[in-house]
Amino acid sequence: MDISTQAAQIGLYWDQRTGAVTMPVYQTATFKHPGLGESTGYDYSRSGNPTRQALEEGIARLDGGVRGFAYSSGMAAITNLLLLFHKGDHLIVTEDLYGGTYRLFEQIFSMYDLSFTYVDTSDIKAVEQAIRPETKGLFVESLTNPLLKVADIRRLAELCRSRGILSIVDNTFLTPYLLQPLEMGADISVYSATKYLAGHNDTVAGVAVVKEKELAEKVYFLQNSVGAVLGPHDSWLVIRGMKTLGVRLDRQQENAMKIAEWLDAHPKVGKVFYPGLPLHPGHALLKKQARGFGGMIAFEVVDPTLIKPLLLKTRLISFAESLGGVETLITFPEVQTHADILPEIRQRLGINNRLLRLSVGIEYVDDLIGDLAQAFE
Ligand SMILES: Cc1ncc(COP(=O)(O)O)c(C=O)c1O
Repeated sequence: MDISTQAAQIGLYWDQRTGAVTMPVYQTATFKHPGLGESTGYDYSRSGNPTRQALEEGIARLDGGVRGFAYSSGMAAITNLLLLFHKGDHLIVTEDLYGGTYRLFEQIFSMYDLSFTYVDTSDIKAVEQAIRPETKGLFVESLTNPLLKVADIRRLAELCRSRGILSIVDNTFLTPYLLQPLEMGADISVYSATKYLAGHNDTVAGVAVVKEKELAEKVYFLQNSVGAVLGPHDSWLVIRGMKTLGVRLDRQQENAMKIAEWLDAHPKVGKVFYPGLPLHPGHALLKKQARGFGGMIAFEVVDPTLIKPLLLKTRLISFAESLGGVETLITFPEVQTHADILPEIRQRLGINNRLLRLSVGIEYVDDLIGDLAQAFE
């Protein structure tokens, strides 16, 4: 069954008693025990809540894993997964990484004796060379934030499996609709569900999906012990958003392609990073391993003095931090999403004072292009 069909049906008729078509919100902290030592299957909402469970089962099905987990944010999900590692463990990480993930690893987990090496994970040799005897994990963004580099998930997963390394794929930018990391051999997929999954810029959430049962049990233990779970109402919002995942992404990537081509031809724009463009270094690989190129674009303006007026002059496109929603947003990664990355690393990667990131929404594309055109004038 297609992912878009499965997504549209999440939570359908879950409540057999009433036949409710959509998933009810079980806004309760606790559940009455039928008797001593007996349970309805639900005891306390941190340990399990029907609305959250419908979301967790839904995302697990879309991603082809045994179990899904919903958290209060994408960062809470990543934090929970990092707790699978032990003192002294080393992880290899995508160097062009969401700034909040970098901050979590460098400023928090490094204090607990985990160490991280950042490499270009679109270069399989660089990943292989970074492996040490104490390497226990690979954390890779399937499409990187913000420069949209493409990692070969199948080959990376194979490499990890052969060396006993746990592979975790942050698939936020692509979602299971476009790419399924677990089907390609990865152990865990993780998402900022705030983005494309929820899709409406109205809730902060995170999800993870685990491929195998034994590992899923460990993750469940951590989720329940740490407790950064997603509340019932937010779970419901993510379910509702996910129902339209397919149609939103179809439109977003159709719009993104046209905008990327328009930007590419604009005299005030330098490099355009969009994997749908045939000259993008990851174009052929993403075409092979994914269903589409996604709705994110990064681009450099030729002169840094153009940035400020551009951010202030767009009318339809909002200058705001986040991505993946139905409304188009423009972001300045150097001072927003990636501010916590060391300046010398940012410069080397190309996250500079001329780079902007667009999260393309579902608006009519000519309106978006018109808005960018007037902002450039
Ligand atoms: C690729 C990626 N992963 C994780 C996160 C963190 O998610 P959240 O903001 O939901 O905590 C983000 C947020 O922008 C992101 O872009």
